[in-house]
Amino acid sequence: MASEVTEQYEGAPSGISTRERQLNPHPWFAEMREEHPVRWDPERETWDVFTYDAVTDVLRNHEVFSSETEIESDAVDTAAREFLQGILFNVDPPEHTRQRELLQDFFRRDNIWELQPEGEAIADDLLDDVEDDGHMDLVEDFSQPMTNRMIATMLGIPREDHDKFDEWGHVIYQVVNGQENLKQPTAKIGQEMVTYMTDLIAERREDPGDGLVSMLANAEMDGEPVGDMQIIQFCMLMMVGGTTTAITSNVVRSLAEKPHLFDELADDPGRLQDAIEEGARYETTSAGVSRVATQDFEFRGHQIEEGDFVVPWLMSANRDAEVFEDPHEFKPDRKPNPHLAFGYGIHACLGNSLGRLETFVALKRLLQRFEFVEVHDDDLTPVGNPFRHNVRELPITFEVAE
Ligand code: HEM
Repeated sequence: MASEVTEQYEGAPSGISTRERQLNPHPWFAEMREEHPVRWDPERETWDVFTYDAVTDVLRNHEVFSSETEIESDAVDTAAREFLQGILFNVDPPEHTRQRELLQDFFRRDNIWELQPEGEAIADDLLDDVEDDGHMDLVEDFSQPMTNRMIATMLGIPREDHDKFDEWGHVIYQVVNGQENLKQPTAKIGQEMVTYMTDLIAERREDPGDGLVSMLANAEMDGEPVGDMQIIQFCMLMMVGGTTTAITSNVVRSLAEKPHLFDELADDPGRLQDAIEEGARYETTSAGVSRVATQDFEFRGHQIEEGDFVVPWLMSANRDAEVFEDPHEFKPDRKPNPHLAFGYGIHACLGNSLGRLETFVALKRLLQRFEFVEVHDDDLTPVGNPFRHNVRELPITFEVAE
């Protein structure tokens, strides 16, 4: 039984502001889809959008629903906030198109999946460290460092510097998940990263190698080389976007509802990939995204005014019975599965192939090497940022496969 806790989660709609509701917000979302598919929340002064149809309408209409929102977080220092303002995820076209065109070819699925062998080696290193213990915290010991190292690999950071990335990624993860007030650590790691990346960019301009840093160091935007600061901003964006949405722990929680799957999926890569898609739908890590209205606009019988905040809840859309049969059941073979876990429209996740790859290699190696995996999910704590649906720790026990 989960312990009785009355802790309130700031910034969350009041219907899901307790710990229990953060862990399981689905009944409240179902009620909202039924009764108020679009509603104004006077407490948060925000429009909430719950149904699949309405969520995709908002995300499709980027001229009315802009991504140019202020980055609001008291947890990070002003420099860190300014550093990310104006970068891809929070700019509209034409600036968005200009930046996305520079990056998107690199993030093609076939290019990213070339990292599969390195991904498996990273997973194996992490599993080697816990193998003899018979238990681990899946978030802290596996899913989180796995994500940091995959980002480092994608950027082309030399293996011997991956430890630094673990440390930086860990701080970023805690900040974005609302876990700590980390003004000092973010200022410190910000400076360390700028110094490190500036040197690396200079090296890669001289002697190009693999990875995103090298690609950007030798690319042009508007006929000019891409500046060092812009490259560093892109890399930090990848760390923020990529390290905070680790979905492995959520997928494992979903699999635990049908434990026979641990065995069945270990040697069936096609089915494992489908199950990951379903896990991404079923427990959506990016619960909601933020938009701001650029003009007065009538939307589904409501009058939205210029400057109003709007939150399309991806997590709610992903359980909409109009689109998904038996939406509250985890069906690992669900097809088609048009979930919105990676967003929708022009801002849909640039790193989705990397996110999918890292979850795939993590689970593939975990399930192949360990058996009788048991998930201890009776006393979990949500991460603390209502836009992120994930847990702080996920203890598991296992036996090493013969
Ligand atoms: C693993 C699971 C991941 C999930 C569930 C996820 C989810 C999302 C979602 C929902 C959005 C849309 C945001 C919006 O509409 O406002 C998004 C955008 C984005 N994601 Fe991911 N993401 C993941 C992994 C990654 C990784 C590994 C990277 C880095 C390589 C990344 C980089 C980005 C970027 C740069 C954007 C902004 C794209 C744009 O504005 O054009 N994500 N992601």
